[in-house]
Amino acid sequence: MKKLENGLMSSFLNSSIKVGDSIKVSEPRGRFTIQGNLNCIIAIAAGSGITPIMSMLKQVLFNTDKNFYLVYSNKSEKTTMFLSQIKELKNQFQSRFFVKFVFTSKDVASHHFGRITETNIFDMLKFPENKFKLLQSSIYICGPEKMIDNISLSLEKGGLLKENISYELFSSSKKDNLVSSESGDVLVTFTVDDFTSKVKSSKKKTILDTALDNDIDAPYSCNGGVCGSCIGKLTKGEVKMLNNTVLTESEIEDGLILACQALAVSDELDIDFDDV
Ligand code: FES
Repeated sequence: MKKLENGLMSSFLNSSIKVGDSIKVSEPRGRFTIQGNLNCIIAIAAGSGITPIMSMLKQVLFNTDKNFYLVYSNKSEKTTMFLSQIKELKNQFQSRFFVKFVFTSKDVASHHFGRITETNIFDMLKFPENKFKLLQSSIYICGPEKMIDNISLSLEKGGLLKENISYELFSSSKKDNLVSSESGDVLVTFTVDDFTSKVKSSKKKTILDTALDNDIDAPYSCNGGVCGSCIGKLTKGEVKMLNNTVLTESEIEDGLILACQALAVSDELDIDFDDV
């Protein structure tokens, strides 16, 4: 387990867990999964951003006949997570899985040296085995926020449809304080796992904090508005959200909210975590 600087879970697992311990985990959540029917999958990962991509890679290779192209950046071979697994998969699926390793601190023969940037991304996506039409591919990006922002913008400018570009952030640089200008209390009705409960809370608290403070088992993970684990449906009342890199405008219009970023505006709210 690689320990990441400021990584809550990797620090916990490295320092507090020993062989033989048991950990209770929830089912996988989030929206960074293979979507749509396009026949070619392209993934761009940097460092530990490979983690969700590995699941997608195995899903595509073992369960579909789609091709998978991976551009994967690291400092060096030594710091490359899943290196041997990726090489094994490449051998096993030679006609469908193509990988390009990019190293930033060491020039390694037959691999790329430098960084993935908005200016070289289209060159990076040229594979010798090129069988795909870039504009008809699904692209998945996971890595540092700046890289994701720059590359996705560049791809959009290059003609890719926004809906075919997916990304996942590990954290958000937006540090708006979740301070509500509203005052007073709010009555919130939660529905989670077919169970409904009504609680009174301060409008200064996020909806997620209100749920957790009342032992309501609302789903969540990052608590920072980037993972989408805490999506609920607002069926009554009004909230305002601060950080949101997950929901689209139309989803917000449909009533979806990120509970970890939502603060009550109205005096009563109904939030359904089952109907999302
Ligand atoms: S818990 Fe991750 S977006 Fe709310």
